[in-house]
Amino acid sequence: MERKDVYGVILAGGKGTRMGNVEKPKQFMNVGGKPIIIHTIEKFAVCPGFDKVLVLSPKQWIKHTEDLIRRYIPVRDNIVVIEGGSTRNETIMNSISYIEKNDGLTDQTIIVTHDSVRPFVTHRILEENIEFAKKYGGCDTVIGATDTIVVSQDNKMVTEIPERSKMYQGQTPQSFRAKKLRDLYQSLSKEEKEILTDATKIFTIRGENVYLVDGEVFNIKITYPYDLRVAEALLGGGYHA
Ligand code: CTP
Repeated sequence: MERKDVYGVILAGGKGTRMGNVEKPKQFMNVGGKPIIIHTIEKFAVCPGFDKVLVLSPKQWIKHTEDLIRRYIPVRDNIVVIEGGSTRNETIMNSISYIEKNDGLTDQTIIVTHDSVRPFVTHRILEENIEFAKKYGGCDTVIGATDTIVVSQDNKMVTEIPERSKMYQGQTPQSFRAKKLRDLYQSLSKEEKEILTDATKIFTIRGENVYLVDGEVFNIKITYPYDLRVAEALLGGGYHA
């Protein structure tokens, strides 16, 4: 078995319900003349740091995803499409199971997990994720909060205004030693799993360090129809990664 250490893990297992599109999940919708997921895969495909890129899609969309890759990505030998899971974290766990079964999992195996619907990720962000995950075991891509963050415990009144200089907005990639992430996730109770918002919390809930990687303001997640218009504007406005 040829040893592989660094995996790009593109998370495309969601349904995109907030987009309100019944026809297809948002990752398959077009911006700038091609599917969002293709913009994202392109960024990973040209990054030499990855030994393999896993794309996780809903079961019924696997063939479609493979067709799109064949159509748009000329160099695709190291890209594999597999089935996602019922939650975002379960999708990540599917990627780790795939690695374990097919290539073998070691303490050095790194996964760079990324939302398929963040097509504006940059080469610099990907490289820094690989570097930090190797060095520290876990990292998260963030930008400093621009708005003041207001905490409300009861969703009616202000409880607290945290110091803004310590507040960040989470983006992706989030990158980890894969074996450690899996072992920590398996150690969580059902209740702990339910309150997880993202993969980084799997580390922090157990007191493990996760380092910050600088994101970019334009590394947006396409969630609502409004975001599609922003994405079109970014592409049409001369943005080049
Ligand atoms: N995702 C995934 N597997 C899941 C759920 C989500 O791989 N079971 C992926 C989505 O495809 C997306 C990313 O995680 O690329 C970020 O999630 P989000 O924007 O919340 O996507 P959806 O779950 O598809 O959206 P919604 O919450 O509106 O249904």
